[in-house]
Amino acid sequence: MNEQQRKENTQVNPSDKKSDKDYSQYFQAVYMPPSLKDAKKRGKEEVKYDGFSIPEEYRGMGQGKKFYIRTYGCQMNEHDTEVMAGIFMALGYEPTDGVEDANVILLNTCAIRENAENKVFGELGHLKTLKKRRPDLLLGVCGCMSQEESVVNRILKVHPFVDMIFGTHNIHRLPSILHEAYMSKEMVVEVWSKEGDVIENLPKVRKGNIKAWVNIMYGCDKFCTYCIVPYTRGKERSRRPEEIIQEVRHLAAQGYKEITLLGQNVNAYGKDFEDIEYGLANLMDEISKIDISRLRFTTSHPRDFDDHLIEVLAKGGNLLDHIHLPVQSGSSDILKIMARKYSREHYLELVRKIKQAMPNASLTTDIIVGFPNETEEQFEETLSLYREVEFDSAYTFIYSPREGTPAAKMEDNVPMEVKKERLQRLNALVNETSAKKLKEYEGKVVNVLVEGESKNNPEVLAGYTEKSKLVNFKAPKSAIGQIVKVKITKAKTWTLNGEMVEEAVEVN
Ligand code: 5AD
Ligand code: SF4
Repeated sequence: MNEQQRKENTQVNPSDKKSDKDYSQYFQAVYMPPSLKDAKKRGKEEVKYDGFSIPEEYRGMGQGKKFYIRTYGCQMNEHDTEVMAGIFMALGYEPTDGVEDANVILLNTCAIRENAENKVFGELGHLKTLKKRRPDLLLGVCGCMSQEESVVNRILKVHPFVDMIFGTHNIHRLPSILHEAYMSKEMVVEVWSKEGDVIENLPKVRKGNIKAWVNIMYGCDKFCTYCIVPYTRGKERSRRPEEIIQEVRHLAAQGYKEITLLGQNVNAYGKDFEDIEYGLANLMDEISKIDISRLRFTTSHPRDFDDHLIEVLAKGGNLLDHIHLPVQSGSSDILKIMARKYSREHYLELVRKIKQAMPNASLTTDIIVGFPNETEEQFEETLSLYREVEFDSAYTFIYSPREGTPAAKMEDNVPMEVKKERLQRLNALVNETSAKKLKEYEGKVVNVLVEGESKNNPEVLAGYTEKSKLVNFKAPKSAIGQIVKVKITKAKTWTLNGEMVEEAVEVN
């Protein structure tokens, strides 16, 4: 079903009270709900490369008004928030730090696990009081949760005071969605369940002026059986290299020191280009020539991580040798049911190649425990793989069934108690390995990009090493925004303490 058909399909039909489309009777304005089934389709729609501009009639819409966006989830969402902040500012709105004086509040949501969703529903409960007190306040839900029909239906039923719901493909439509919401008494729902476009020239208001995210591609075609992302973010589609390079050049000229290239599966970058043979390795190689101190990328998929990329990364310089390489499980059988499309052996071979080319490389990972029917032995294979690779750290999760994904339909004989116990055992290993790795830093000198005052002590500055270790140390405030050399004096459980030995040493 295309957007027009879905819109027509959701016209008022009061007699059809039992269908999901029930709620359409309340909406005269925009009612374009999501469909996970449509979102799953691939290959039918052409990717549209479009430019963004604010329509004349919406300019000044935000004069005298303030916006507040609360962001949940991954860096992609954080960056989407920077784009939406850019759009708000272009419309004349001003940012505010709290909900109390905001005229528009957006919840930019995450659907990756159930607890992420619960947090949002909890927050909506709190905001209800505010909305009652200030009926003119506009309240919106966007991000990955909006792409799920079950979520949209629940908001319609339980949180009807929400003014607008829009999806991940509709961010550039924010000006007209706001306009609709101001004009209409009804909830505005605009969620396209399409494969996705690439919109350029989006305005961005970045958090800080030291580190920046740059999108290189959108979507995911991997369809790992547990994951909702390919449904909420559409198909893999890459931004043209010239657009990315121009954005990075511009950021370098503005004085940014570190760039993280972003995508759900960055190793698939360029695979969708029909006119050029151009992948992540080519892109990293070209961007590394730009005068920017640090260059990272996330997130990698082991399946598409090729030798060319390893070769380029091994050149070092501003290409940092910290690689986040989600493994998910150490058992080939579980990896197969997860549809990860690599085996334990393939992963270990990839790690061997990376370490051979970059002996000091640090690796971090993501792991899911308690996938349906995971046996004790299979879980132990995850522990043994972790020991073998000696990851610097890991994000660990208990498997969370996501409606609409194949894994959610699998029977599961692993009790929650067992899953929790496995997570604890894995976390103990993660902590122990990480502490051991940090201990090795004592007495060494590292390059730290100073981000600002430490959260707990304004007398102390904090920043990150090339391998993303947080370092706290005493230094003049003038060091903020610089890369300085710090001698590590003490390793703590998760962070390092040190002393600055030299100011403003640019690596490069
Ligand atoms: N349950 C638990 N963890 C998940 N992840 C993705 N989907 C799920 C799920 N259904 C984890 C994976 C992924 C990270 C971003 O979140 O480890 O790499
Ligand atoms: Fe989800 Fe797998 Fe795509 Fe990562 S690669 S976003 S885990 S489907």
